[in-house]
Amino acid sequence: MAIEILIASDHGGIRLKSTLISHLTANGMTATDLGPKADSTSVDYPDYAAKLARLIRSNDVMGILICGSGIGMSIAVNRYEWVRAALVHDETSARLCREHNNANVIVLGERLIGELTAISCVDVFLDTVFAGGRHQRRVEKLSNPSGLLTP
Ligand code: RB5
Repeated sequence: MAIEILIASDHGGIRLKSTLISHLTANGMTATDLGPKADSTSVDYPDYAAKLARLIRSNDVMGILICGSGIGMSIAVNRYEWVRAALVHDETSARLCREHNNANVIVLGERLIGELTAISCVDVFLDTVFAGGRHQRRVEKLSNPSGLLTP
């Protein structure tokens, strides 16, 4: 089943967004650009996090979010309970957030990560599957507080 990829940023992530779209396109994938446009000046990251979060409702959709540090985007998008977003700085965290946490959104900080590392992180994120097993129960507890030991 083909995965749909959505991508958005704020002004602090516009350049990396366009680099990643080009990279994915060159590798036969399509990433739907939710904005902002390349010539945008200042925008607010919660607006773009919300735009992407609202479209992430199925298992077959993965998201990429970028801001200057990645921090604002990750705080904003993790407010949506169906989102499991991971702010990633290296390939190992890109792999682990899929294997252990079934992350459906990768977040990158354009001002803090090198372009080649960012590209590798996205490739690893998209290529890695959730390991399930003991991680399944833990991931389920993220969206079902009734299963928590201390409700
Ligand atoms: C924008 O200047 C910057 O604050 C934003 O991109 C992000 O880093 C926020 O967390």
